[in-house]
Amino acid sequence: MKALITSGGKGTRLRPLTHTQNKHLIPIANKPILHYAIETVIDAGVKEIGIVTNADCDEVQNAIGDGSRWGVRISYIPQEAPLGLAHVVKISEDFIGKEPFIFYLGDNMVVGGVKRFIDEFEKDGSNCHLTLAKVKDPERFGVPEIDNNRIVRVEEKPAKPKSHFAVAGIYIYDHHIFEAVNNIKPSQRGELEISDAHQYLLEHNYQVGFSEITGWWKDTGKPFDLLEANRLVLEHLVPQIKGEINGKSYIAGNVTIEKGAKIINSTVRGPVIIGADSIIENSYIGPFTSIAENCLIRNSEIEFSILLKNCQVLDIGIRIESSLLGTDAEIVRSEEKPKTHRFFVGDQSRVELV
Ligand code: DAU
Repeated sequence: MKALITSGGKGTRLRPLTHTQNKHLIPIANKPILHYAIETVIDAGVKEIGIVTNADCDEVQNAIGDGSRWGVRISYIPQEAPLGLAHVVKISEDFIGKEPFIFYLGDNMVVGGVKRFIDEFEKDGSNCHLTLAKVKDPERFGVPEIDNNRIVRVEEKPAKPKSHFAVAGIYIYDHHIFEAVNNIKPSQRGELEISDAHQYLLEHNYQVGFSEITGWWKDTGKPFDLLEANRLVLEHLVPQIKGEINGKSYIAGNVTIEKGAKIINSTVRGPVIIGADSIIENSYIGPFTSIAENCLIRNSEIEFSILLKNCQVLDIGIRIESSLLGTDAEIVRSEEKPKTHRFFVGDQSRVELV
């Protein structure tokens, strides 16, 4: 079975991080989100993957490569504009061919793998298999209406959801999905909606099965989702100390310290991952924090946060929490007078002060 993975779209809800970086390359526990998608389908036995990318940029190709590092083949399918998830499927018909395939949204993360869903799809002999997850805010997602344990309707981001389920971004299809994506019309927002393709299948009496995701599943579309996904991945962190810890430091819980990193006179309370060549000095790093490579944290406290590479946090008197710092970001104390806050923040940034 082949896999089709998305890595396009605009990532508007994750600005400003996505002004300079594709959202699928943002790290969760110091690993790009897209790696989790790739590794999940490989774990299910997939050997050939097509990744749909924005046609005007080769950032994803450069970061991911041809798949040889995982022992699989990865090809790229350019999408000229983010015209919808059904459009993604439509332009991938040549790559997929006639065989069933798994369609995996590259910003989704799931624990427990996807093999179980492929098995269900094969056992049921259905044309389409959806995965459903119970959520508090179904209006953000595709939502199924379920009657007698069967999906009878699917609506995209409905104002009045008919169930508490989201259709998660993990779908398994046979070739009839191409009939659906070639026959639906763009929605009001101008996209070919994957939910409309599912509705087409239902209306044309194709068999649409489903599984409920009972473990955790995350769509990492918004900043807090990234922090939550980071927390969930770090909960399973396997501790590994490759860097240096000086005698006056205290390390507790599951902590990974990459090569070249130094912990000096600091407390690190896991689960925490600290990237290569980062320096933590006279500081506290609390649970559910991922610090990427080459960061410097001095005289500061950080907890439940994600720092991308080359960040500096220096002499900040109050604990930083629930924060996301992009590459090269700096938060520093200045001794200059008058004593004021001085900001130099990019477009669509957000700063909260207490
Ligand atoms: O996460 C599950 C939800 O994903 C489903 O419940 C919805 O039915 C489905 O429409 C989708 O909703 P989102 O609003 O979360 O989709 P988003 O625009 O964030 O795109 C999802 C992924 O697909 C992401 O990896 C970006 C990529 N994408 C998106 C579009 C619209 C593309 O590569 N090309 C596109 O044209």
